[in-house]
Amino acid sequence: MVSIVVGGHYGDEGKGKIVSYLAQKDDPDVISRSGVGPNAGHTVWVDGKKYGLRMITCGFVNPNARLLIGAGVLVDPGRFLDEIKTTDTDGRIFIDQNCSIIEQKHKDEDKKDGGKIGTTGTGCGPAMSDRVMRTAKQAKEIPQLKDYVTDVPLQMNEAIDAGKKVLIEGTQGFGLSLYYGNYPYVTSKDTSASTAAADVGIGPTNVDDVYVIYKAYMSRVGKDPYIHYLDDKDVEGNTMWRNVLERAKKQGIEGENVNEIIATYLGEVGTVTGRPRKIGSFDFELARYSAKVNGATQICVTCLDKLFPECAGAKEKSQLSEQALDHVKAIEESVGVKATLISTGPDVYDVIDLR
Ligand code: GTP
Ligand code: IMP
Ligand code: MG
Repeated sequence: MVSIVVGGHYGDEGKGKIVSYLAQKDDPDVISRSGVGPNAGHTVWVDGKKYGLRMITCGFVNPNARLLIGAGVLVDPGRFLDEIKTTDTDGRIFIDQNCSIIEQKHKDEDKKDGGKIGTTGTGCGPAMSDRVMRTAKQAKEIPQLKDYVTDVPLQMNEAIDAGKKVLIEGTQGFGLSLYYGNYPYVTSKDTSASTAAADVGIGPTNVDDVYVIYKAYMSRVGKDPYIHYLDDKDVEGNTMWRNVLERAKKQGIEGENVNEIIATYLGEVGTVTGRPRKIGSFDFELARYSAKVNGATQICVTCLDKLFPECAGAKEKSQLSEQALDHVKAIEESVGVKATLISTGPDVYDVIDLR
């Protein structure tokens, strides 16, 4: 049984949270990280402790799972070794021998972006470019990584052939895809489920489930002039947003404009960059398109509690308010796929599981 988790909008949809839930609930034998590299910032809360992960899959929360990083993923060795310590995963985490390495020069180069694309500055774009030019270093050449390198495709396929459960964690979101996003305001690689499978060396025929994750609203960190962000007019014309703004103001939150006030209220600050994210209304059209291209079999809606605080911590559908249910229904109807996981808080177990 192979499942892939990917983002359906512009990243930060809460993939980390969903992966950590699936890692606990479904108890996969192998959990692999696909995607671009350490530009991703996944946040997971377990037992009141916060982990901000950029290299290691959030599936680490399951202590019995073998953790892998696929050949398609860029590895920052310092960051990787640090995260092994914070997650205490030495002995069960491995990376593919062919992973490309991010060096200091790539980070320096990335920081010269000067706000043009608003990259994360983690060196991913320049390292990917070296890979394409065939001048990149690979994990097998790095002495500090020698205890961790393996053949990930072999391990993945052996696990699948043995009938084991496999979970694959994607990064970023569909709207940031090098192929399908608003080029050039995108990341350095495709972010869809097919690429996630290729990243870890398995064929499309092996994939059983694709979970596409959407936040109940939309957020974007970095530049994208093609997106329409929430403005005064949108808020005035929508009861849900008017209520959110009212609650933000009641808490004394201030800002230059409604978008900033709402972003602060929703706690939308970039995990990697620390930059405030911009907020948009749920993009139904992009969501539908992204579900199609990803081949979604299930969708997940996260952060419902941020828009509808009365739903915080709900674990049953019956605990949701009418407005929250209407919102989920509107998403399901426009995307055309059932929402099987609804996240109602940052903790791993704040989930309504309708699978
Ligand atoms: P990228 O790969 O960087 O795109 O990250 P991501 O999709 O894993 O999301 P990220 O962790 O960057 O952002 C999601 C944020 O929302 C984190 O701070 C989570 O703790 C939080 N979060 C996730 N689900 C929920 C939820 O249902 N409710 C609340 N209140 N917070 C949530
Ligand atoms: P890069 O991936 O660092 O090259 O950044 C390219 C664009 O993708 C920028 O707009 C970033 O803000 C955005 N981006 C990259 N990774 C993430 C992520 O994990 N979450 C949200 N946005 C991201
Ligand atoms: Mg993130």
